[in-house]
Amino acid sequence: MAKSAELHFEGKVYELPVVEGTEGEKAVDISKLRGQSGLITLDVGFKNTGSTKSAITFLDGEKGILRHRGYTIEELCEKAQFLDVAYLLIYGEYPTPEVSKTFAEKITLHTLVHEDMRKIFDGFPTSAHPMGVLSSLVTSLTAFYPESLDPTTSPEGVNTTIIRLLAKLPTIAAWSYKNEMGHPLNYPKNKLNYVENFLHMMFALRTDDYEINPVVAAAMNKLLILHADHEQNCSAATVRVVGSSQASLYASVSAGINALWGRLHGGANQAVIEMLENIKADGGDVEKYIAKAKDKNDPFRLMGFGHRVYKNFDPRARIIKKSCDDVLESLGIHDETLEIAKKLEEVALKDDYFVSRKLFPNVDFYSGIIYRAIGIPTDMFTVMFALGRLPGWIAQWKEMREEGQAIGRPRQVYVGENERKLNI
Ligand code: CMC
Repeated sequence: MAKSAELHFEGKVYELPVVEGTEGEKAVDISKLRGQSGLITLDVGFKNTGSTKSAITFLDGEKGILRHRGYTIEELCEKAQFLDVAYLLIYGEYPTPEVSKTFAEKITLHTLVHEDMRKIFDGFPTSAHPMGVLSSLVTSLTAFYPESLDPTTSPEGVNTTIIRLLAKLPTIAAWSYKNEMGHPLNYPKNKLNYVENFLHMMFALRTDDYEINPVVAAAMNKLLILHADHEQNCSAATVRVVGSSQASLYASVSAGINALWGRLHGGANQAVIEMLENIKADGGDVEKYIAKAKDKNDPFRLMGFGHRVYKNFDPRARIIKKSCDDVLESLGIHDETLEIAKKLEEVALKDDYFVSRKLFPNVDFYSGIIYRAIGIPTDMFTVMFALGRLPGWIAQWKEMREEGQAIGRPRQVYVGENERKLNI
């Protein structure tokens, strides 16, 4: 029997259907509420609001479960290549070896960016943050591929846009780093795989004999998979809302990149390292910073702690913590900030303030430490997150488009002045 919930208001009863997801999640469907009762719902920050049904990613924050198209993040991280996970997210099934090969070949065909885009790079000062460069350049793709703007494009046309974006983002990301360094740009080397090619574009020319370190490539592959999708987070929700106006994939993903940039979302990985460096420079007094984080009159927060949906542990953090130890060990790196991070974690996990609020290290607490160990500069950390999150954004955009979802347009409760006259 179909389930429903009742809302009693001003002597009337409104019956609201309850929808149930495949994992038993229940939601009250209020889509007809305003028409029936004049009421809207208020949920600032969307803490209790489902904005869509989706078949891409399942997340149970209480149990610490994250699955893409049914496969656990643990299994994907252990066995898969990032590009195959991208295929899984975007097209719904894990690719067979033949499909995987064809997909990788298609991507390889599109890794170059138009030479005219180099002129845009030349226009940026070297002080430009690579996230700003990344989002600008992704929007610029609309100028080079204007057909991507047509909302009536065939599925093949949409697919070409998807392949181009997946292929070119590593090139644009690596070039935004080269721009910042004032170094010459490295062109893609298509005999390398997706991850290796990115490392090549980032680091070749820095040393004449640059060779891909397999430990570094494996860690990077894992990091990208860990970030590949996270259901309706701030940037994915942004991509869907922007895309719902029929903006192109490039414009929608560019908006997602900007949403990711903030310190409370993807920018946290950069903020974590900056925080650890500050603590180190300030004498390494971890207790002092724990006290600051607890002080409601102090805006300081422990970066890399807490999560909107994970309330027991972040499964991504568990995987990455292990990776972090492996990478540092195999590269023989002793990182003093890592010692501070470990102390901070130890103290916070026992402190009642953090325990009672269910605040524990999230994925970004460790990702920055690995990025740093493999030579990625701090302000490129969020760009790395964007590279990983790209398939998720594409999958969310594609699902929203294919289902013909209505334009995202929330309501509000107005609390400003009532009508008044201008006395002039
Ligand atoms: N340090 C100190 N106190 C905190 C922290 C923190 N990192 N995070 C939350 N709190 C406190 C907060 O002050 C509040 O306390 P009270 O109930 O006394 O007012 C309580 O915990 C609940 O916090 P909230 O801000 O209502 O929780 P939220 O769900 O709105 O925010 C968050 C989640 C991730 C934005 C927040 O925990 C935070 O700012 N963390 C630091 C930034 C960070 O690491 N972000 C990366 C998230 S993982 C990457 C991703 O998926 O985007």
